[in-house]
Amino acid sequence: MKSRLHLLLALSVVTAAQAQLPAGSSISFAPGAAANTSRVTIIDPGDHVWTLQSSPDLVNWTNVQNYKVHNGRLDCTTAHAPSTTNLFYRTSYSAALQGSITSTLATAVNLPVSPYDYDNPTLPANFAVPPISNQSNMPATNITTDAGAKLGRILFYDKRLSLNQTVSCSSCHQQAHGFSDPDRFSKGFEGGRTDRNSMGLSNARWYQRQSFFWDERSATLEIQVLQPIQNAVEMGMTLPALEARLGAEPFYVDLFTQVFGTPGVTSDRISKALAQFVRSIISVSSRFDAARTTNFVVGTNWTQSEERGRQLFNAPGNCSACHRTDNFVPDVDIFNNGLEFPYVDLGKGGVTGQAGDNGKFKVGSLRNIELTAPYMHDGRFATLEQVVDFYSTQVVDNPNLSPPLRLPPQQGGGVRRPNFTAQQKADLVNFMKSLTDTSLATNPKYSDPFNYGY
Ligand code: HEC
Ligand code: HEC
Repeated sequence: MKSRLHLLLALSVVTAAQAQLPAGSSISFAPGAAANTSRVTIIDPGDHVWTLQSSPDLVNWTNVQNYKVHNGRLDCTTAHAPSTTNLFYRTSYSAALQGSITSTLATAVNLPVSPYDYDNPTLPANFAVPPISNQSNMPATNITTDAGAKLGRILFYDKRLSLNQTVSCSSCHQQAHGFSDPDRFSKGFEGGRTDRNSMGLSNARWYQRQSFFWDERSATLEIQVLQPIQNAVEMGMTLPALEARLGAEPFYVDLFTQVFGTPGVTSDRISKALAQFVRSIISVSSRFDAARTTNFVVGTNWTQSEERGRQLFNAPGNCSACHRTDNFVPDVDIFNNGLEFPYVDLGKGGVTGQAGDNGKFKVGSLRNIELTAPYMHDGRFATLEQVVDFYSTQVVDNPNLSPPLRLPPQQGGGVRRPNFTAQQKADLVNFMKSLTDTSLATNPKYSDPFNYGY
C-alpha cells in the first residue's frame, strides 16, 4: 500500500555561480489551505527571480515555475495531482536567472480596470465654503489628478524608497490604523526608532497653516514627503539614489510619463505624486457625517451619549476651541495643551528658536482618532479614556499654555481643569469614536497595490 505523505522541504539551493542567498532573503513552505496544495513564501528585499522545483525522490528535480518577487515578498500556491505520494519542493536562486523576468505594471501591481477616483471626491457641502475651504493646502502647482495619486499610492507602498528596501511609508502609516502606527515610536529601516509618534493622515489636505510634522518644520506637504526618505532613522536614502533606482524600473518610467508627460523620474515629481496621494486620503463617511446631515437628531444612528459628548466637545472653552470645524484641526494658531513642564520636546520652539513656541505642537485631524492610538506627539496615552482624563484634571501649567486651557484672569488665571464626571468622560470618548470611518480603513483605493501572490 502506498503512503499518502506529502512532504514539504524548506530547502533553498544556491548554485555554484552564487556563493550565498541574496541579503535578507528567507524561504518557507507550508501545506496549502486546499487539499493537494502547498504554500511557498519567499521574503526577498532585493526582488529577485527564483525557481521553484519539485521532486518525488530528492534526486530528480523538475522546474515548476520561475517567479519574480515584487516589493519584498512572494506567496504562491502550487497544486499537485491527488495521487501524488511523496513530493518535495525546493526553491533556488541563480544569479544567471536574474533579468529573465522583468516587472511590468500588469505583473508588479494590481490596479483596477477603470482608475479609482482621487481627484473628484464627494464632499459635504460645507467643505466648499469657509472656514473649511480656507483650510485646503492643495497648491495650484500640484492639483491632484487620478493618475498622479495612483502613482503616489504605488510609491507610498514601495519599500524601494528605503535604503535596504525593507520599509515603505505604509510601514509607519498603516491604513487599518488611520494611516498611523500602533507602535509608540516607529521602527525605521535598520530597526532604529523614531523620536516621535507617527501621525495619522486622514484629511491632511485640510490644515490652514499648511505646514507639516508635529513641530511644523516642513512648510508644505510637498516638502514634507521627501523628508522621511532621507531621514537617517526612517528610510536612509538619498534623492539621487532613489531617482536612479526608480528610473531603472521600466514601469515607473511609464507611470511618470503618464502623469507628467515626459519620462523623467525626479525627486520633484516623486514629491508631487506622494503629496497627491496623501491629500486624497479623505474621510467623510463616519457616523458623525451621517448624523450631521440630519442635524444630530438622537435616534437609531446617533446616540444620546454621542450627542452629549458633541455638546461637551463644543462647549465654550472645551475641545473645539482648538480642534475646530468638521476636520477637527486648529486654524490660525498652534497650541500648547499642557502635557509637561519643563518641556522634554520643544516642539515648534525647537524649529523657530522662540521661547514662546516651546511646547507647542501641531495636532492633525481627530478624524479616525479611535484608530490612531497611541496619542500625542510622544504617544504617551494608550487610550482615548486616558486623553480625556488628562484634559479633565492633569493639564500642567506652563508659560506657553494656550488660553483655552486657562481660567480667565478674574478667576485667577490658573489651569482650567473641568473635572469631568465618569459619564461626561464616556460621552466625550463616544463622540470621538463617532469620527471613525471604517470605509477609509478598508477602501482598496488606499491599499497596498503590490502583487505578492500568484
Ligand atoms: C519609520 C517610520 C516612518 C516612515 C517610514 C514614514 N513616516 Fe511619516 N511620519 C512618521 C513620524 C514618526 C512622523 C512624525 C514625525 C515628527 O513630527 O517629527 C511622521 C509624519 C508624517 C507626516 C506629517 C503629517 C502631518 O499632519 O503633519 C506625513 C504627511 C507623513 N509622515 C507622510 C509620510 C510619507 C509620504 C512617507 C513615505 C515617503 C512617510 N511618512 C514615511 C513616521 C514615518
Ligand atoms: C488649547 C488647545 C486644545 C484644547 C482646548 C484641547 N486640545 Fe486636544 N490637542 C491639542 C494639541 C496642541 C494636541 C497635540 C499635543 C501634543 O501632542 O503635544 C492635542 C492632542 C489631542 C489628542 C491626540 C491627537 C493625536 O493625534 O495623538 C486628542 C485625542 C485630543 N487632543 C482631544 C481633545 C479633547 C477631547 C479635548 C477637550 C476635552 C481637547 N483635545 C482640548 C490642543 C488642544
